[in-house]
Amino acid sequence: MRVLSGTQPSGDLHIGNYFGAIQQYLAFQDDHEALYFIADYHSMNTVRDAEERRHLTHSVALDYLGCGLDPRRAVLFRQSDVPEVTELAWMLSTVTPMGLLERSHAYKDRLAKGQSADHGLFAYPVLMAADILLYHSDVVPVGQDQKQHIEMTRDMATRFNNAYGEDLLKLPEPYIPESAATVPGTDGQKMSKSYGNTIAMFAPEKQLKKTVMGIVTDSTPVEEPKDVGQALFQLWSLFAEGEEREAYLAKAKAGGVGYGDVKKDLLERLLAYFAPLRERRGEFEKRPQDVEDILEDGARRARMIGEPVLAACREAAGLGTPV
Ligand code: ADP
Ligand code: TRP
Repeated sequence: MRVLSGTQPSGDLHIGNYFGAIQQYLAFQDDHEALYFIADYHSMNTVRDAEERRHLTHSVALDYLGCGLDPRRAVLFRQSDVPEVTELAWMLSTVTPMGLLERSHAYKDRLAKGQSADHGLFAYPVLMAADILLYHSDVVPVGQDQKQHIEMTRDMATRFNNAYGEDLLKLPEPYIPESAATVPGTDGQKMSKSYGNTIAMFAPEKQLKKTVMGIVTDSTPVEEPKDVGQALFQLWSLFAEGEEREAYLAKAKAGGVGYGDVKKDLLERLLAYFAPLRERRGEFEKRPQDVEDILEDGARRARMIGEPVLAACREAAGLGTPV
């Protein structure tokens, strides 16, 4: 079984990315063929500066490695090092109805936020489908927000196969465990780089403290019962389990627990949880060339999988062969 997923280099990775996606990446690299990439082509929709993109791409590579993704067990690569993916995206776009893309939540949300819509943003799900289909991926671990994109991918693959031949492209399955339920941001909305409400995994301690203390809560006084459905308690719950968690939440529900104390406890747990990962990231940070070599080696391996898939699609569609 082949597993594939990707993350955009559009900002620092946050704990929503970690619990929603990276934890699943880690589990799969142990017993499956796994490919994880940095979606730098996708980031062109939002990042318009070359130096910034280079920096962010390197930084996501460090985040991946810090979190424990291991180049000996998983293929780690940069999306644009395998440019074949853009060619497949073109082929897929020719069988993708406008209506399908118009229904994309990501597109609709951004329009609703008043962002200008370029063709790249509109066609974003097509490039994502190409990412998945180029490597004949079986399973795609993602957060809940990406589910629709996997459904669209299946739709595009079916249409392409219907036109040019069954089995050309493999239909992938999403993998979204309950633990990947949407992690809320400091303002209670979905945590997202684009909403400025993230808790960055590897931010300096001082900054993390400020972020955690700034988590929005209601104004229930200390002695009153608390609504444990709030973002603060959902976030706290990521770092506790079983009975300990139940007991803590029950206490908060009963009243007598202040938000300030919950925040302090959350901060401590967060720092302790990510400390070993932070340390490993720091080690890689000292060796930028090694990180670059890991990505290049990954791209070579990814390309070996993708090239024959693309060649079969070209052939089936009656296109030429590159000289
Ligand atoms: P962002 O929304 O911050 O730009 P990405 O779109 O790059 O994050 O997401 C990378 C991965 O992390 C995806 O699989 C996505 O589903 C997951 N993810 C992002 N935000 C969250 C969240 N708040 N809760 C759970 N998973 C998330
Ligand atoms: N769209 C994904 C996100 O924003 C990133 C992504 C691009 C991706 N291509 C992918 C995820 C292919 C899984 C598979 O999170």
